[in-house]
Amino acid sequence: KTTIFKTDQQDLVKASTLLKAGEVVAFPTETVYGLGADATNDTAVKKVFTAKGRPADNPLIMTVADVSQLEAYVTISEAAKKLMTQFWPGSLTIILPIIAGRVSMLVTGGLQTVAFRLPANEATRQLIRTAGVPIVGPSANLSGKPSPTTAQHVWHDMQGKISGIVDDGPTMVGVESTVVDMSAAVPTILRPGAVTQNQLQEALGVAVIDATSTTSVASDVTPKAPGMKYRHYAPDKNVVMFDRLDALDLRLALQKNDVVMAQDTTIAVMKIPLSQTWSLGETLENATEQLFAGLRFYDDDNEAATIYVEKMPPIGIGKAFNNRLAKAAGNQEFNG
Ligand code: TXA
Ligand code: MG
Repeated sequence: KTTIFKTDQQDLVKASTLLKAGEVVAFPTETVYGLGADATNDTAVKKVFTAKGRPADNPLIMTVADVSQLEAYVTISEAAKKLMTQFWPGSLTIILPIIAGRVSMLVTGGLQTVAFRLPANEATRQLIRTAGVPIVGPSANLSGKPSPTTAQHVWHDMQGKISGIVDDGPTMVGVESTVVDMSAAVPTILRPGAVTQNQLQEALGVAVIDATSTTSVASDVTPKAPGMKYRHYAPDKNVVMFDRLDALDLRLALQKNDVVMAQDTTIAVMKIPLSQTWSLGETLENATEQLFAGLRFYDDDNEAATIYVEKMPPIGIGKAFNNRLAKAAGNQEFNG
């Protein structure tokens, strides 16, 4: 049975008791919801892989409430310290070399590095502090599905499979954190997110490589972020991306049950019934916050056929939006 917890002190204590007992509890962050389990307890970590249906070679993020909680596991370089000071709590996951033997192979997937994240959500930081251990924190979706941005999404995927869900309402950012590899000779972005390449370069004062800006990773090579090789964030429905310059062509090509996710200005130009649309709002931030919710909505809507989603300008968080959209669409594009 899966219990829904609120974010008051009493409920957080109950949820942390479950974590300490080796159970799996989903938790809110500012990006997406995560699946929490005691990262120092292999039996608990195994339950996370089972609940998600996640391949064992895909390593997990360790989620902490304070920097002091990760000092036992990794050596923190000056550069990494700068990032922690500037971006934590926040939407940046930092990969660091582990101190041999300190982190379970189940968490690292056998790598010599581990990913750390300190999310900007007070309830979750309280939960982790009370549990007294770092928790693993993959996104709380079934493997391959869009990440959950509400507790209801988590319930949809995980009901009956995990012990609890801490509900703190919809998440703010809507896509997963930026992953930066600080164990590499040159800092490298393995997954784009709310913290941008420019922001990282400014903070570090050195060049940062964006490993995701080239074309998608083929499945026969080993990508640096093992998770990025799987078909991801993908609804069962056919998803196709489109450029706003092609909006009028798309309008003519639309079939009766096709649906469109686009910014308000684009929807206005296309003059299609609002019932056939999911608004991506007016800003890049609005669009990113709404992406997974819209995909999940239409995936469960028996009426909806193909889901057309507008691409965003590749600036700021627009890069993260387009990255997740391209994965959901399997790179399919509408050609006007
Ligand atoms: O925003 C987020 O980061 C969310 C919230 C819940 O915190 N979590 C999340 O976790 O997205 P997950 O497990 O779904 O994605 C983590 C990504 C995966 O692509 C994984 O392969 C990669 O980070 N990763 C984890 N540890 C790594 C490591 N040591 N080296 C390279 N990539 C790693
Ligand atoms: Mg994930």
